[in-house]
Amino acid sequence: MMSSPKSLLIRQARLVLPNGEFMLGDVLTQGGKIVEVNSNIANATPSLEIDAQGLTLLPGVIDPQVHFREPGLEHKEDLFTASCACAKGGVTSFLEMPNTKPLTISQSALDDKLQRAASKCVVNYGFFIGATADNLTELVTVQPTCGIKIFMGSMRGDLLVDQETTLENIFAHGSRLIAVHAEDQQRIKQRRQEFAGIEDPAIHSQIQDTQAALLATQLAVKLSKKYQRRLHILHLSTGIEAEFLRREKPNWVTAEVTPQHLLLNTSAYETIGTLAQMNPPLRSPEDNEILWQALRDGVIDFIATDHAPHTLEEKGKTYPNSPSGMPGVETSLPLMLTSAQEGKCTVAQVVNWMSKAPAQAYGIPNKGEIKVGYDADLVLVDLNNYKTVNREEILSKCGWSPFEGWNLTGWPVTTIVGGEVVYDKGEVNTQVRGKALQFV
Ligand code: DOR
Repeated sequence: MMSSPKSLLIRQARLVLPNGEFMLGDVLTQGGKIVEVNSNIANATPSLEIDAQGLTLLPGVIDPQVHFREPGLEHKEDLFTASCACAKGGVTSFLEMPNTKPLTISQSALDDKLQRAASKCVVNYGFFIGATADNLTELVTVQPTCGIKIFMGSMRGDLLVDQETTLENIFAHGSRLIAVHAEDQQRIKQRRQEFAGIEDPAIHSQIQDTQAALLATQLAVKLSKKYQRRLHILHLSTGIEAEFLRREKPNWVTAEVTPQHLLLNTSAYETIGTLAQMNPPLRSPEDNEILWQALRDGVIDFIATDHAPHTLEEKGKTYPNSPSGMPGVETSLPLMLTSAQEGKCTVAQVVNWMSKAPAQAYGIPNKGEIKVGYDADLVLVDLNNYKTVNREEILSKCGWSPFEGWNLTGWPVTTIVGGEVVYDKGEVNTQVRGKALQFV
């Protein structure tokens, strides 16, 4: 019998099933879909067979917050380099933010990004539409988008929406998901003046303090409750916000946390200086612990990286001229799986937080689980060996990681997008193309 085109058989992997249980078995894909999951698939004639003995098969990671810099800031990153970094990190789909040049605040800018992605992205892609003070019509009508991004603080120019009346107008119109960067601009501005002249980057966490984050999160939740509007809180960074959400979060509100807010804290300024600078800033070790607990308890729903690359030259400037942001898509899965091996959580929880929960929150159909009929976006990871994060191997154009030197397990061995091998043992197959994500 002729083998059907683009069928793939993954043999004898340790599978993480939708109910969180493990099973040793085979997965058959055909035409980009999972067509069979079984302990032993006997009669298939696939075009490619992968011996996965000793490896663990997970649904591909969906990273629901990244900044990939194209168009306009391609000296930091572009959709091709970033998507290769995704493939290496086991990230098979991403949702990208609107602070590019031009800003993604109109249908034409969104169409341009989709076209660029179709021509060069090796993994699947979706894009946010950015809110400004005067693009309400676009916010309600543009398609396709995963949602509206509002920078309530920590932003300059048109994407900063820090007036309550403007925010209220956005929450009051339309029904699509609103994702907020919750930091109070007024408080940040005032504290910037108070701490002016200090060049130690550690001051960043005091200027953009926990109160600034709490005030904005409280306002977003207040507006969401008033209008029963679907709200997502991006990169939750503080224990007090987590405790507030534990009490006040309605069931139509979701929240995410980044690996860096779980695993790094203000002590990182001493070792990596401005490479640790991001918005919202790193917090204390106590915040790390409260965020972990909130994640385990379901107060925080999922993980995003906020991959926000800047060149080493830019990061080498003196605070406050150094830009905020750090890359993340290459290290997020091994960081979380290493945490699982250390007993902070289970592998099944990591799968939920990095695949299933983001697919559900954004209404992305047929992704995030290893299930017949679902898209064949998969990642085989090695949980038996440890390897150090090392600058030379970084594929992101920025060429650095805040986790250099960390010894991690759970590194992707093979990543599969739409049934095609896009990454295998250090090599990216640059011929693969991802698809535009659907949002229902
Ligand atoms: O640290 C950050 N960097 N936080 C943001 O919200 C934006 C991002 C960027 O685009 O550099």
